[in-house]
Amino acid sequence: MRILAIETSCDETAIAILECTGDEKSAKFNVLGNALLSQIEIHKEYGGVFPALAKREHAKNLVPILEAAMEEAELLHEDTQAIPEKISATVSEILAREPGLSESFFEFVSECEPPDIDAIAVTAGPGLEPALWVGINFAKALSLVWDRPLVAVNHMEGHVLAALARKYKGESIRYKGEILEICDVKLPVLALLISGGHTELVLMKEWLEYELVGQTRDDAVGEAFDKVARMLELPYPGGPEISRLAEEMRELRGFTSKFTLPRPMIDSGTCDFSFAGLKTAVLYLLKNEPTSAQGYGEARKKHIAHEFENAVTDVLWKKTAQALEETGAQMLVIGGGVSANTHIRRVFKEKIASDFPNCSLRIPTSSLSTDNAIMIALAGFYRASRKEFVKDIIADGNLSLAKKL
Ligand code: KG4
Ligand code: ZN
Repeated sequence: MRILAIETSCDETAIAILECTGDEKSAKFNVLGNALLSQIEIHKEYGGVFPALAKREHAKNLVPILEAAMEEAELLHEDTQAIPEKISATVSEILAREPGLSESFFEFVSECEPPDIDAIAVTAGPGLEPALWVGINFAKALSLVWDRPLVAVNHMEGHVLAALARKYKGESIRYKGEILEICDVKLPVLALLISGGHTELVLMKEWLEYELVGQTRDDAVGEAFDKVARMLELPYPGGPEISRLAEEMRELRGFTSKFTLPRPMIDSGTCDFSFAGLKTAVLYLLKNEPTSAQGYGEARKKHIAHEFENAVTDVLWKKTAQALEETGAQMLVIGGGVSANTHIRRVFKEKIASDFPNCSLRIPTSSLSTDNAIMIALAGFYRASRKEFVKDIIADGNLSLAKKL
């Protein structure tokens, strides 16, 4: 089955085309085409993602990204296509709210053959609703013009499946020819999902059925990284910046930490998290430390980044360990943008090996950790295999993966 997947939930416009074979328990995915455009540079000056701007950029970039993905997949064949009037009228209505997109959409689809794909998958949520809508409307329009079924994907399920996927062959997911596989999954699987909008522990007891084990009561961990980075006058997105400074600190042998930050809720006895207090603690710490004319100074930033990252990792591990004990999970996966963090990956690998030797750990390669369309195609394949096709999709910014028991 060939899936074309579209992701526009936040600040990445991405489209991937995957050839998927096998069944639910043992599937192989050949990346035929993968195009991604990050809006990070555009949002940097706002210090975070600006929804109206994200929507506009997605609308501008979707057609060029589709063209690039189809070209890479060798599925772009020029040919004049006549679009029936009825379909053209419905598509115009669907795209009426996406200024700029309608024109480029019609121009593109009337000049190329419908590609050899079996289904179109698109992120339905969670995410920024204006951004989600652009991708959904684009997918609906393609589904009508190309007469292919539509699949609605939960972005968080994409993160779980990307974490379960292992590289079968190839070096980087940026390139055509990468082969991924999802097999030998031992249930139950515990997923720690850590991104800009989410921090949750989810249990997959049965294949593709999820239960919520714990979640953040306030900020998501990626949000805390980004906010603390902003306080330290580091550019958006803050996660990689904090990670870089903290790693530089760790490389200095024999240093002693200057600051101590709290580990919120670490002994609460629940699997829930809280990161707002940690962020406030950094704020107070900075208030009590006078700035110099040069700002906070590199050395101090490094000390804070290091202690902040340690505090986050301690809490994430303690809660995950508790959830592993409570659920008896056989496998742990970590997904979402923050799972790209070097220190978190290292600590989790060490701790699983020492404290849970019978539990296997899967973490995605860092390019599959942050938002991309390959993960949406993976989820799209499973949902399409179950024939979960839909006629219409409503963007849901708060779409949840799992219910609290
Ligand atoms: O999953 P994702 O790409 O988008 C959402 O669905 O939110 O996650 C983005 C988040 C941002 O908060 C970003 O700062 C964080 O992931 N992030 C990191 C790292 N790379 C990205 N956080 C810590 N360390 C990193 N290396
Ligand atoms: Zn994400």
